[in-house]
Amino acid sequence: MWFSPLLVLSAPALIAAKGHDDAHQQPFQYITAENRTQPIRLKASPACGSFSSQNFTEVNTGVKLNATKTIVTFGDSWTSNGSNGTIPFAPIVFPPNPSAGARLGNNFRARASNSYVEDLANTLGAKLIDYAVGAGAVVDLSAWNSTNKGITFTSDNLLRVDFIEQTTLFLQQGRFLSDLDPDTTLYTLRYLCTSMSERPSFDYEPAGQLRQLSILQANGAKNFLIHWLYFSNNVTDAFQNVVYQGLQAAHAENGTNFATVNFANLYNSILANPEEWGYNNNTCLVSQNFTTFGCDDPDHSIFYIPGHPSGTTHEIMNQYTILAVEKCV
Ligand SMILES: *[C@@H]1O[C@H](CO)[C@@H](O)[C@H](O)[C@H]1NC(C)=O
Ligand SMILES: *[C@@H]1O[C@H](CO)[C@@H](O)[C@H](O)[C@H]1NC(C)=O
Ligand SMILES: *[C@@H]1O[C@H](CO)[C@@H](O)[C@H](O)[C@H]1NC(C)=O
Ligand SMILES: *[C@@H]1O[C@H](CO)[C@@H](O)[C@H](O)[C@H]1NC(C)=O
Ligand SMILES: *[C@@H]1O[C@H](CO)[C@@H](O)[C@H](O)[C@H]1NC(C)=O
Ligand SMILES: *[C@@H]1O[C@H](CO)[C@@H](O)[C@H](O)[C@H]1NC(C)=O
Ligand SMILES: *[C@@H]1O[C@H](CO)[C@@H](O)[C@H](O)[C@H]1NC(C)=O
Ligand SMILES: *[C@@H]1O[C@H](CO)[C@@H](O)[C@H](O)[C@H]1NC(C)=O
Ligand SMILES: *[C@@H]1O[C@H](CO)[C@@H](O)[C@H](O)[C@H]1NC(C)=O
Ligand SMILES: *[C@@H]1O[C@H](CO)[C@@H](O)[C@H](O)[C@H]1NC(C)=O
Repeated sequence: MWFSPLLVLSAPALIAAKGHDDAHQQPFQYITAENRTQPIRLKASPACGSFSSQNFTEVNTGVKLNATKTIVTFGDSWTSNGSNGTIPFAPIVFPPNPSAGARLGNNFRARASNSYVEDLANTLGAKLIDYAVGAGAVVDLSAWNSTNKGITFTSDNLLRVDFIEQTTLFLQQGRFLSDLDPDTTLYTLRYLCTSMSERPSFDYEPAGQLRQLSILQANGAKNFLIHWLYFSNNVTDAFQNVVYQGLQAAHAENGTNFATVNFANLYNSILANPEEWGYNNNTCLVSQNFTTFGCDDPDHSIFYIPGHPSGTTHEIMNQYTILAVEKCV
C-alpha cells in the first residue's frame, strides 16, 4: 500500500488569517486540526557575510519578509507539494487529502515531505504558489541530457523536470492568475539536493540558473530568497559562488533584492551534535515506499525518508531562514 508521508508526519494545518502588521520575529503557531508540537528548538545562528564577498554567503540586500503576500517557489522535492503551480489555496491539506504524498495515482509526483516553504508561507500568512517538482529536478535538462549519457529518468522512472520548465509554466499562467505585485512577491529557489547523490560530478550549469533568474526579473521579479545546499563540496560550492556573483550583478544592475540562506550552516550544527538539539540521529523510514520498520518517533528524526527532512526539521529550516533574512541585513 502507498502511504502518505504528510499524513503520518504532520497533522494537517489550517492556516489562520493573519495580518501583515504583526511582527514575524517569533515563529507563528498556526491553528492545527490536530495539535502538533515542535519538539526541537532552533540552536544555530546564521553566519552573516559581506554583500561584496566573492563567495556565496548569507546576506539580505532588502528582502522584507513582513511585506510578503505571495511566495512563488521553484525547486525539487524539498519544496514541492505536488501542486505544479496550482493556484492558490492555503498551503495546507484539510480535510486530509488521501493522495497528498502519494507517488502515483491522481496525485502523481505529489509531495515527498513537508516543506519549509509551506511553513514560511504559514508563518507570514502568505499565499504559496508552488512550481517545484520532486524526483531530482535539475537546473537545465538539456545540459543534464547532454552530459549525463542519456540517463534522463529518475530512480522512480519519471521524466526529470528542470527549472526552465517550472519558470516557463509560471510565466504562462501563474503571474497572470495570481495578479502579482512585485513589491509583495517573494521568489524562492533551492535545487540540486537529490541530483547530487545520483551524479556527484554533474555539471551544475550556473549559466542556466542565472538565465532563468534574468527572465524572472524581466517579468517583474524584484525579491528573491535563495537557499544554499545543506552540504558543502567543491563542485556545489563553485556553482553557488557563480550564482551568488550573478545575484550581486542583478542587485547592482536592477536593484533586485536578494536574501541568501545557507542550510549548510544549520545542518553542520545539527549533524555535529544531534543529541544536544534533541534529535536522534536517524532517518525515520528506510524507504519512501512503505512504513514497515519505520521509527515510532518521526518528530525527533532529522530526516523522515532518505534525503528528506522530517516535519520538525522543515520547521527548524523555516525558523533559521527567518532568522537569517532578518539578521543578515
Ligand atoms: C490545540 O491546542 C489549543 C491550545 O491548547 C486548543 O485551543 C485547541 O482546541 C487544540 N485543538 C485540538 C484540535 O485539539
Ligand atoms: C517590516 O519590518 C521593517 C523592519 O523590521 C519595518 O521597518 C517595516 O515598517 C515593516 N513593514 C511592514 C509592512 O510591517
Ligand atoms: C505541470 O503542469 C504542466 C501544465 O499543465 C504540464 O505540462 C506538466 O507536465 C506538469 N508537470 C508535472 C511534473 O506534472
Ligand atoms: C499545494 O499547495 C497549493 C497552493 O497552496 C495547493 O493548491 C495544493 O492543494 C497543495 N497540494 C497538495 C498536494 O497539498
Ligand atoms: C531530455 O531527454 C528526455 C528523454 O530522452 C527527453 O524526453 C527530453 O525532451 C530531453 N529534454 C531536453 C531539454 O533535451
Ligand atoms: C519504491 O517504488 C519505486 C516505484 O515503484 C521503485 O522504483 C523503487 O525501486 C522502490 N524502492 C524501494 C526501496 O522499494
Ligand atoms: C536585469 O534585468 C533584466 C530584465 O529587466 C535582465 O535581462 C538582466 O539579466 C538583469 N540583470 C542581471 C545582472 O541579472
Ligand atoms: C573537485 O574535486 C575533485 C577531486 O579532488 C576534482 O577532480 C574536481 O576537478 C574538483 N572540481 C571542481 C569544480 O573544483
Ligand atoms: C571561495 O571559494 C573557492 C572555491 O570554492 C575556495 O577555493 C576558496 O577557499 C573560498 N574562499 C573563501 C575565503 O572561503
Ligand atoms: C549523525 O549522522 C550522520 C550521517 O550518518 C553522521 O555523518 C554524523 O557523524 C552523525 N553524528 C553523530 C554525532 O553521531
